[in-house]
Amino acid sequence: MTDDRTRLHGPEFAADPQAVYRRLRQAGPTAPVEIAPDVPATLVLGYAEALQVLRDPANFPKDPRTWQRTVAQGCPVLPLMAYRPNCLFTDGATHARLRGAVTDALARVDTRELRTHLEETGDALIDRFAPDGKADLMEQYARVLPLLVVTRICGAPPVISEEIVSGALALFDGVDDGRGLDTAVAELVAAKRSRPGPDVVSWLLAHQAGLTEDEAVQQIALLCSAGSEPLQNLIANTLRLLLVDERFAGDLSGGSLPVADALDEVLWSDPPIANYGTVFPTREVQVGGNPVPADQPLLISFAGANTDPAVDAGGRVGNRAHLAFGAGRHACPSPAQRIARMTGTAAVERVLDRLPDLEPAVPAEALEWKSGPFHRSLASLPVRFPPPPQQIRPWLGSPAPVVRREPGPNRPAGRWTAFSRWLRGG
Ligand code: HEM
Repeated sequence: MTDDRTRLHGPEFAADPQAVYRRLRQAGPTAPVEIAPDVPATLVLGYAEALQVLRDPANFPKDPRTWQRTVAQGCPVLPLMAYRPNCLFTDGATHARLRGAVTDALARVDTRELRTHLEETGDALIDRFAPDGKADLMEQYARVLPLLVVTRICGAPPVISEEIVSGALALFDGVDDGRGLDTAVAELVAAKRSRPGPDVVSWLLAHQAGLTEDEAVQQIALLCSAGSEPLQNLIANTLRLLLVDERFAGDLSGGSLPVADALDEVLWSDPPIANYGTVFPTREVQVGGNPVPADQPLLISFAGANTDPAVDAGGRVGNRAHLAFGAGRHACPSPAQRIARMTGTAAVERVLDRLPDLEPAVPAEALEWKSGPFHRSLASLPVRFPPPPQQIRPWLGSPAPVVRREPGPNRPAGRWTAFSRWLRGG
């Protein structure tokens, strides 16, 4: 790229994004950036300007199709930016219909029952590494737990759940463009169509919006990705903060743990989705006094807007005015936010309850972050702790009856499969 656009891809940005936002902000509330090699975009860093864009769907539509025709196949940002017929990429009446169905289905989730499931699953994950006295809490805990929560609320039977988790992890790792996830979700939707249950997929299929099979598949695939990658980062970023930040890292075994406060702080200062909320103006528009070209992506820097000095005053604890969950018509639906907060808090509390003498295994400055323009995601979170006494969990002793399948193109037999078998007692 010939102009002086700041790169949001690559290790320099990942190492200290707030330094980049501070520098860009000096030139105004929007900045020209590059989100992948030769892919220009505009980043909105001002809090007021972010709200202006997010609350004006007429001037800032979500449909990326004209832009995406100009982007090379295989471009690393396409899996998260290319059009899909789901509520995230649609506008107007179609968006309202799809979002209404998703929101109503999520609102029926029993968060108390979900919390119990989450604690049991969290315990099973912790049991697995606890005897070692060390773990990578990103890889061995935060990365998988939210996916297990999503497959639970979707009522996925174990084999399909396994396929969904493998497909979603492959999508997050850029190994696959989401086709593996779509195939597994289509299988789940077909199963629920013939045998409904008390779960989000069945509620979505029965919704008065009358979703087609494909619409249902697309909305559920969105829940599997939108509902898990940010949650994994929320859990890991909150654990990191509690372990390394002097304001929070006290006596973690002290009893009254400030987990909810740490969660709020992360949502302000290290939001799991740092830059996203992509919109594609169809003609040149002005944002913060700067022209934004037509058919080029405009990204909201949720992380930059949250730390905009114009709003960065006063306490953050209990203050939900941050933009971590977006704003406007495409904001993260309230029932999804409720699930996210409950899951984030319970997942962190479970680790601290089980491993009270947890400490970081490397200095804070040695922790590495994954590169990429969108997420704020630790590459790993190594910790150590005195191994706790082993606990017997009778519920793990009765594996669910499952039909085993041979690995196929969409059924990789990786580490997750091995873990999943173990979780089921196999
Ligand atoms: C820490 C966790 C989460 C964060 C930080 C987060 C953040 C966001 C943000 C910023 C958006 C707006 C994106 C945009 O404007 O383009 C969004 C949308 C969405 N989120 Fe979340 N989210 C989280 C968890 C979840 C969960 C658990 C679910 C579902 C189980 C979920 C479902 C959705 C859906 C369906 C949308 C699209 C809404 C629409 O386009 O109308 N999210 N989320």
